[in-house]
Amino acid sequence: MGRTHPRWYPLFICKKPAGQPGNKHSLTGLSNLDRGSAALPLVGPLVLDVANGQALQVGEASVDRVTRLLQLSDVPELTALCSENREFLAPWEPLRDKDFHTETKQRALAEAALEAHAAGTRVPLLILNQGGQLAGFLNINGIVRGSLQSASLGYWVSRTENGAGLATAAVADAVEHARNSLGLHRLQAEALLHNAGSQRVLAKNGFTRFGMAPKYLKIAGRWQDHELFQKILD
Ligand SMILES: CC(C)(COP(=O)(O)OP(=O)(O)OC[C@H]1O[C@@H](n2cnc3c(N)ncnc32)[C@H](O)[C@@H]1OP(=O)(O)O)[C@@H](O)C(=O)NCCC(=O)NCCS
Repeated sequence: MGRTHPRWYPLFICKKPAGQPGNKHSLTGLSNLDRGSAALPLVGPLVLDVANGQALQVGEASVDRVTRLLQLSDVPELTALCSENREFLAPWEPLRDKDFHTETKQRALAEAALEAHAAGTRVPLLILNQGGQLAGFLNINGIVRGSLQSASLGYWVSRTENGAGLATAAVADAVEHARNSLGLHRLQAEALLHNAGSQRVLAKNGFTRFGMAPKYLKIAGRWQDHELFQKILD
């Protein structure tokens, strides 16, 4: 049984019960954003079973969340995880400023991300592991309305958490959110030609390749070609 809530968009802190197969997560926390803000226009049906802690049923799909919205109180843990993964992420990211891995810089970035979220152009999401601990990050970036109704995904998962299906589940969360809460028509993602892991994550979520963009993004200090993927959400 589900229910709709007319005012709040609930975001969940998720935890997988020990021994439970698949990516089922129970709901261990709940935060609400005022639906009066333009940040989260609730377009599609939002069907929840909060009281029983069951997986969400949205439309035809069962959604087992591994993401929740970034909060400023997450900054210390996020800074630590970014620092731990500095070398692991370096080949896949822009060159970082000297102060990037400091808490001061991460707080400023988090504040900017939450401002963009309030403006309706971005959704910064933490990726959580089976124990509900921070394991990575996913951004629904560059939300454009008008006749495009599209956004772009960016994500990473901590080296020690790789291979557990977290990126795949987080992208599934993002797809559900983009379709049912943001009401977007399309999601895009770009991957370096040799980023087989990321391309596999996208393929598992039904993204299809629609082109290759030469020298598309400056990654690790070089303008590099990227494969372009999209998923139509209608
Ligand atoms: C890419 C990344 C997000 C994957 O995270 P993850 O949580 O390990 O992903 P998942 O476990 O959900 O799925 C990974 C899939 O890719 C496959 N994979 C991983 N590395 C691979 C490789 N080198 N070649 C082929 N397949 C690979 C895995 O086998 C798995 O597929 P499977 O489930 O069919 O076996 C993570 O490695 C990462 O953060 N990398 C650095 C940052 C990055 O590349 N971000 C994406 C930018 S577009």
